[in-house]
Amino acid sequence: MWTWLDLAETDSTNNAADKLCAETNCPCIVTAKRQTAGRGRRGRSWISDEGNLFMSFAFPAELDNIGQIAVLSGLAVLKTVRAFCPDVSLLLKWPNDVLADGAKISGILFERARNGFWIMGIGINVVSHPETAAAGYRTAGLNALGAATDRLKVLHKFVVIWDEMIFSWRQEGFNAFKRQWLDNAYNLGKTIIVKQGDKEISGILSGLNDDGSLQLEIAGKMHKILAGDVFALKEE
Ligand code: BTN
Repeated sequence: MWTWLDLAETDSTNNAADKLCAETNCPCIVTAKRQTAGRGRRGRSWISDEGNLFMSFAFPAELDNIGQIAVLSGLAVLKTVRAFCPDVSLLLKWPNDVLADGAKISGILFERARNGFWIMGIGINVVSHPETAAAGYRTAGLNALGAATDRLKVLHKFVVIWDEMIFSWRQEGFNAFKRQWLDNAYNLGKTIIVKQGDKEISGILSGLNDDGSLQLEIAGKMHKILAGDVFALKEE
């Protein structure tokens, strides 16, 4: 059972969810029509035009589980997007970007909150999507892909999918989800570049570890990647 707060405007739904769960000590979902300072991973901003979905889920979790939950979150967004755009090619780019026809349709930011809670902040482009020049990468949106939907219908679909997935993850564990993630993985078995700040590592994307980290094979040896941005060899 979630408490849900839908705001007209906030700086970031991650901040609003952090505040709400600190006050109530209960799991909650915060959405907003507009974000004035939406943020992404690695200090980037998240362009937050009205009509798109900005949602933050606050729930108690152990740090040891966050890697798996992060993997689950990308898979849940992929299933949600697939429900609205069944014929579009969708891929998961580690850690949890969803690519639609090769363009980013959503982004996910996990942050630690107060009281042992975590915030899972998700942006999904619904009615519009930022220009490539503004975002720095190619973007996609549900309606541009033929969905004819709105942010609250997408929220509802995501919550149903998320609740089912978390229930089954608690009962049966991570393995089935790991397999599903790998079935939809971007560039599995291919050489990729992982950018970590100024550092770049290149290797073969070989799989996922049980903590949700990436397996990268470099010169025949397996390395564990805990953070970074994944790029194809020839990608900008
Ligand atoms: C990324 O791909 O860099 C992650 C983007 C996360 C954006 C969402 S929108 C809802 C929530 N509030 C924020 O400020 N960020 C996340």
